[in-house]
Amino acid sequence: MHSRIAGTGKYLPERVLTNFDLEKMVETSDEWIRSRTGIERRHIAADNQATSDLAVEAGRAAIADAGIEPRDIDLVIVGTTTPDLIFPNVGCLVQERLGIRAVPAFSLEAACSGFVYALTVADQFLRCGQARRALVIGAETMSRIVDWTDRETCVLFGDGAGAVVLEAAEEPGILYSTLGADGRYRDLLYASGGVSIRQREGSALRMKGNEVFKVAVKTLENLVDDVVAANHLEKGTIDWLIPHQANLRIISATAKRLGMPMERVILTIREHGNTSAASVPMALDTAIRDGRIKRGDLLLLEAFGGGFTWGASLIRY
Ligand code: ACO
Repeated sequence: MHSRIAGTGKYLPERVLTNFDLEKMVETSDEWIRSRTGIERRHIAADNQATSDLAVEAGRAAIADAGIEPRDIDLVIVGTTTPDLIFPNVGCLVQERLGIRAVPAFSLEAACSGFVYALTVADQFLRCGQARRALVIGAETMSRIVDWTDRETCVLFGDGAGAVVLEAAEEPGILYSTLGADGRYRDLLYASGGVSIRQREGSALRMKGNEVFKVAVKTLENLVDDVVAANHLEKGTIDWLIPHQANLRIISATAKRLGMPMERVILTIREHGNTSAASVPMALDTAIRDGRIKRGDLLLLEAFGGGFTWGASLIRY
């Protein structure tokens, strides 16, 4: 048994924050942000919107796109690093709101790699027959943990959610997955407060951007080398690269390593910013809906984020 993508969806909050808006908040410029990152604007959740609200909308769209009903779903996994509450987990909140049956529902935290991790876990459930239709979501309200006085990080992040319905299939779908993590880099990218430590101080995202950049480029190069070698891929075999949207320069380095032209890379960073676990499924949905990605295309999804964590999935769409 294998798993394949049956439907996709996404949700972006209405409010848009441009680089020009940020110029009024911190000492920065549109020119700096665009040239260093590729970002021009990002969406920000309304005060009354939590991560689960975004996830519900993306999940609903993916279920409709798959042509199924919520009762057909028998597994819910949400990759997120900004859950509504300590518990219930975001998966349970989504399950209740969408009217999904009493099936396993959980969230998984792996920062920006959260969706690729969640997809890989769902694929394992489907391949061993534990589930037949999984709703896999990446959803974030990064605006809630960004320090809006820190120009080195606040210009980078945005909010959103993307979702995929994964269904059991005779033919693969997901051809190959690889995940990794290295906690030795924990101090380069982290949220300052949490549940069992520094809860009362709240939480703010902290990043040594320059150092993260170097490790991200190297790790992603090794990651795509692994995918190419393990699957004996020839240059030009991959139709679309769907990368985590953290920085255009990091994405370009990965595409170069793969020998892929930028026209074959799905980019949403200009409009979405870095939406952490939501970025890969939102980019995937964007390119499926605008007709670039077609059934039968070979896709490479990859992500790198806090932890550090990283992962990739090679998928026949
Ligand atoms: N506006 C203007 N100037 C700025 C800003 C800003 N918003 N931010 C920093 N600067 C300044 C710095 O102070 C520095 O000034 P100095 O030279 O006088 O000291 C200068 O710009 C250069 O700063 P660098 O940090 O060296 O800039 P860099 O080219 O590395 O770009 C960036 C910074 C965009 C953060 C980059 O390092 C990056 O993308 N890092 C990786 C991010 C990433 O991939 N994270 C992982 C995923 S996120 C997650 O998991 C949650």
